[in-house]
Amino acid sequence: MESFAGDWLSLRVQADSAARSQTLADRFIKQLPAHPRVLDVASGAGANAFYFETETGWSAPGLAPDWTLVDGDPDLLMRARGLNGCADVVIADLTPGISPELLAGVDGVTASAFFDLVSEDWFDDFARSVCGVPLLLALSVDGRWRWSPAHDRDNDIMALFARDQRRDKGFGPALGGGAAMAMIRILTTHGFMVSSRRADWRLGAADAGLLDALTRMIAAAVLPYGLDASDWLARRRHEIERGVLRLRLGHMDLLAVPGADNTS
Ligand SMILES: C[S@@+](CC[C@H](N)C(=O)[O-])C[C@H]1O[C@@H](n2cnc3c(N)ncnc32)[C@H](O)[C@@H]1O
Repeated sequence: MESFAGDWLSLRVQADSAARSQTLADRFIKQLPAHPRVLDVASGAGANAFYFETETGWSAPGLAPDWTLVDGDPDLLMRARGLNGCADVVIADLTPGISPELLAGVDGVTASAFFDLVSEDWFDDFARSVCGVPLLLALSVDGRWRWSPAHDRDNDIMALFARDQRRDKGFGPALGGGAAMAMIRILTTHGFMVSSRRADWRLGAADAGLLDALTRMIAAAVLPYGLDASDWLARRRHEIERGVLRLRLGHMDLLAVPGADNTS
């Protein structure tokens, strides 16, 4: 299983929250009954449920849903318990798909920053298994990026990083930067009405920690393909220290409603 450091997930919380479409999240909530049961898939440390409970219509007292958070990493789920005290947590390897037991009695399904890891076939099975309920699938990467200032090696490095994102993470060939577009196509095939909004990270001087971690991650990811990005990394770190590096990184939020009229 592809593992994610809790510190990396903490670093991205603020950028994720700023990027997300509150409109789609609130429209998702309106699709659900009062006091719904909601399953958060690959919850990690619970950032998605936390977002809903602090930034959306569910932040009002007494309106929070009954959450079930499922993930394969028990340490992250322990953190999730700390953040979302009342949530049920389930440790499960999701590579075989979402089990019917997890979906029993669920009114809605959410996920964030997960589907770039899965394959087209896996997502097709997922879409079939959740066919009857609304979905809010946030922060799927879509392959767009823009560094400022630009660097001569950006194209080569980001192309190899994109290749690494498509590496098999246990679910088959990963969707990587093709995630958002593939998800829209597959969900539509399964009869969902899909609304999408850009949810790009817009990182700058206030995001030095995240930019530092991300640039290191990119340089490490391209090394096994024979590309030494240490000069690029050194330049980027210098720019981060001076507060001049900016990155726009493409993500999409999707609201999928089963067979309903869904004006986007
Ligand atoms: C990028 S993190 C996103 C976590 C969380 N949704 C968020 O937005 O912070 C991806 C999550 O997928 C989980 N994951 C990866 N492979 C998995 C698998 N085979 N089974 C269950 N969870 C998995 C990881 O443990 C991690 O929590």
